[in-house]
Amino acid sequence: MTSAPLSPVRATRVGLPVGLGLLAGVPVLLLILATLGALTQTTVEGLPIVPWQTLWGLPLDRWLRDIAATLVLGFVVVGALLLPRIDMRLIRLASLAALAWLVALLVQIPLTVSEVLGRPWTDSFDPQIVGALLTQTQLGQLLIAQIVLVALVALLSWAILGRITGVIVLVMAVVAAVLSALSGHSGLHSGHTSASVSLGIHLVSAGVWVGGLIAVCSYVARHPDSGAVAIRRFSTLALVCVILLAESGLLNASLRVDGVASLITTAYGTLILAKATLLAALIVMGWRQRRYVVPHADSPVGRSQLVRFAGFEVVLMGIAIGISVALSRTAPPAGAIAGDRITAGALAILALAVPLVLVWAGARPARLVRWTVAYPEPFAVLLVVVTFVMGAVVPSGLLGIGVAAVLASVILVLTGWAFAVAALGPRGVAAVLLAAVLWPGVLLVERLLRANPVETYVQVGAAAMLGVGCILALLLLRHRPTAPVQVSTPAREEMVVG
Ligand code: HEM
Repeated sequence: MTSAPLSPVRATRVGLPVGLGLLAGVPVLLLILATLGALTQTTVEGLPIVPWQTLWGLPLDRWLRDIAATLVLGFVVVGALLLPRIDMRLIRLASLAALAWLVALLVQIPLTVSEVLGRPWTDSFDPQIVGALLTQTQLGQLLIAQIVLVALVALLSWAILGRITGVIVLVMAVVAAVLSALSGHSGLHSGHTSASVSLGIHLVSAGVWVGGLIAVCSYVARHPDSGAVAIRRFSTLALVCVILLAESGLLNASLRVDGVASLITTAYGTLILAKATLLAALIVMGWRQRRYVVPHADSPVGRSQLVRFAGFEVVLMGIAIGISVALSRTAPPAGAIAGDRITAGALAILALAVPLVLVWAGARPARLVRWTVAYPEPFAVLLVVVTFVMGAVVPSGLLGIGVAAVLASVILVLTGWAFAVAALGPRGVAAVLLAAVLWPGVLLVERLLRANPVETYVQVGAAAMLGVGCILALLLLRHRPTAPVQVSTPAREEMVVG
């Protein structure tokens, strides 16, 4: 397929659409919370009733807080420090994002009162109660410190005149973001210093990476002359951020999740698995960008290609942030025990999403291609049979739940990988359609046969949708070779994709 580069006029309009990709996280967040029943008002005798407005409002407010913090960090880093010259437009945008962050923090106060005391949101402004929350609890004191810092960031951004003032504003934004980490699952448990520190690093690296990418797209569209420098510098910064993000995320997860089996047998673990898979997909995209786009950053074609890649990346990042907020509203698991079953979501991620990322990254060994090329349909059947067996039987506890969970995960990924390779062969469409039809059925039957099901039909339905989505995504990959992007000579200013 051949596509023309963005014209300068279209290019100026790309910053906002790229940023809007972050909104993809909102439906994902609400869908996950709805399937977990976290948006429905419940009555447990003796406990305060949290109104539904608060159950919806708190995660949405937290999402706004995380997105605003992300934009502030990224825009200040790129606008004040990364570029050859300070870009005041990016700094002003950072100030606007800081205002949104401030609003989210202020709204968090009555929502927290409402959640803790089980009052309607509108009755949660009582000055005495709000005063007690802010002065007598750790959460309240952290909120005050954040509010002061974020207000200063919003104001002082207008006073950034050079690199040094830029660094001062950035340090304040970083401290405010780290304080959020102290108020999550990690921070409110005493003695969890490493959990809080790692979550702080996680939040800052996510912010600089995601917000920085949007800032660079916005800058490159307006300054084609110095865009190449910005792209190259950001590419290195993004690499550092991804390493820190993965390391801190995995460390934090290991502190919250008791044993590897909890990753596939609990809702909290499944969400972590989903985030790790998304991060792997983002790493594949980032690698392709470094390999095929960054070397051509001097040409208009290279820059427009960066913006196209970035649009897709930001959607995936938005989904990752939506899942993260859902994670922060989900209770960490107590630890898996023998007899716990693999969740439908984990089955979909291991058998379909991970193999999809593998084949997308180009992992299509010649031997596997040879085995699967002639008869791809049996691999679709094998996939659903293995999924059924793993969901129904494993981990049984015979080997110890940890070993059984690892074995089951490896078997699911290998079977899914063989199916994905088969699906990309010349006769693969039939296998794709067969799997898309059988997949929801196998999850449903498996759920029906469970003696003591812990998952609702809504959760199973969401996993069925995720699986079918991954299976159909294979159709899109069928026409793409392993190295999909070649940028032609700048003279022709034309790009060949796929
Ligand atoms: C290997 C991949 C990853 C792992 C293992 C991981 C793990 C975690 C864990 C355990 C938490 C704490 C949740 C809690 O409070 O219970 C967290 C929070 C968070 N993660 Fe990740 N993460 C990963 C990738 C990502 C990615 C790719 C992004 C964004 C692009 C991201 C953004 C966030 C954000 C914004 C939060 C804070 C959510 C909140 O408290 O509102 N993470 N992550």
